[in-house]
Amino acid sequence: MTDKQDKKLWDGRFTEATDEFVETFTASVSFDQQLASYDIQGSIAHATMLEAVGVLTADEVSQIKIGLEQIHDDILANRFNWSVSLEDVHMNIEKALTDKIGDVGKKLHTGRSRNDQVATDIRLYLRDKIDLIALLITNLQKGIVALAEREADTILPGMTHLQVAQPITFGHHMMAWNEMLERDYGRLQDCRARVNILPLGAAALAGTTFPIDRQLTAKILNFDALAENSLDAVSDRDFAIEFTAFASILMMHLSRWSEEMILWSSSQFEFIELPDRFCTGSSIMPQKKNPDVPELVRGKSARVFGSLTALLTLMKAQPLAYNKDNQEDKEPLFDVVNTLADCLTAFVDMVPAIVTRPTNMRNAAMKGYATATDLADYLVKKGLPFRDAHDVVGKLVGLAIKRTVDLSELTLDELQQASILIDQDVFEILTLEGSVKARNHLGGTNPDQVRLAIQRARNKISNR
Ligand code: ARG
Repeated sequence: MTDKQDKKLWDGRFTEATDEFVETFTASVSFDQQLASYDIQGSIAHATMLEAVGVLTADEVSQIKIGLEQIHDDILANRFNWSVSLEDVHMNIEKALTDKIGDVGKKLHTGRSRNDQVATDIRLYLRDKIDLIALLITNLQKGIVALAEREADTILPGMTHLQVAQPITFGHHMMAWNEMLERDYGRLQDCRARVNILPLGAAALAGTTFPIDRQLTAKILNFDALAENSLDAVSDRDFAIEFTAFASILMMHLSRWSEEMILWSSSQFEFIELPDRFCTGSSIMPQKKNPDVPELVRGKSARVFGSLTALLTLMKAQPLAYNKDNQEDKEPLFDVVNTLADCLTAFVDMVPAIVTRPTNMRNAAMKGYATATDLADYLVKKGLPFRDAHDVVGKLVGLAIKRTVDLSELTLDELQQASILIDQDVFEILTLEGSVKARNHLGGTNPDQVRLAIQRARNKISNR
């Protein structure tokens, strides 16, 4: 042992000190100290349970609790001295406890192992972060719904293949993003149910010889259920993978939406303007206003997808039960949590501040023959089979392109030359407003339907 090395809590059988490189290489304290509060919470619950079953005395547990709480204060106040030679958050705290309260501190680890301890810590951590992320999703949805309500009647061209397809309302378009987030929220809650299961009691892998009361520990820590197999309990990281899969899907959604904001705020579209506070300028081009925030969110989806691959690969082919490999679960998971929380926070602020440019959206819809399908539907309603109607309208679009006018600007005479079924009433359906109004059913773009969708969304949000 070198001078600067702390005595290991496990070196009874060892005859030489840990190699200095190996010590740093195997340590996790630089990152798992983020779990400190959860580790202490878990230890207090464990000690309380040991007292209830008579393994520790009330006096011992009282000393342990006081010691752990003081250590917690030290950590929160940045007074705690983390030591790499104590490897991880668990042994740093246990050693500090023994330094503080003496030999009683050494009894805390009775009936548990770092294997079930760390699995418990991560679950407590993730449960906490899930609740924070759920709140951010809800706040973002509230922002979307408010924007959709404000712009329920605003018309823009809906696109397929990034070409003008049919007119839609801005509110309807925003509510599409809300649908995705609604599913994300559901996936997150599904994941929470499987996170909120207590592994403690599995000890190293086989359980413990002490008469533990796992139900009591679960109750103290607010876990819904117990992990039912000790081998699985210490080695399972499905819940972290599941969370990261949820996060990847959500980041995929945010990347699509970011892409849209980037396109829509470009001078080629000019459908929206992002507030200056979410953009940056160029050090060389004075005219530039770059949509950095959505660009960065789009870019950050990459590291989240990467973490999903990392965690899946980490667990692939791992033999039962705990392996040191599992220490590699933390950095990707923490990064996913932090990235997701940051991206959602940016969106929560940015979305309600989006400024729309209705005239530009309208002009874009006018340019693209967006009501051609409406004209085809009109002919069908007058008795023409759809495929023939499609053909008639195709020819009229060709004529309109040649004359550089919109369909609604063709004369009745020109229209009737293509089909005698066309009448004066056609001009109503050729307007953008007529087109969106006509799609009046659940899921359609009619502004009244958008308002109903908003109502349904608000109900779902308030029932959470
Ligand atoms: N730092 C370890 C981890 O994060 C804690 C568990 C260590 N267990 C062991 N048997 N070495 O996985």
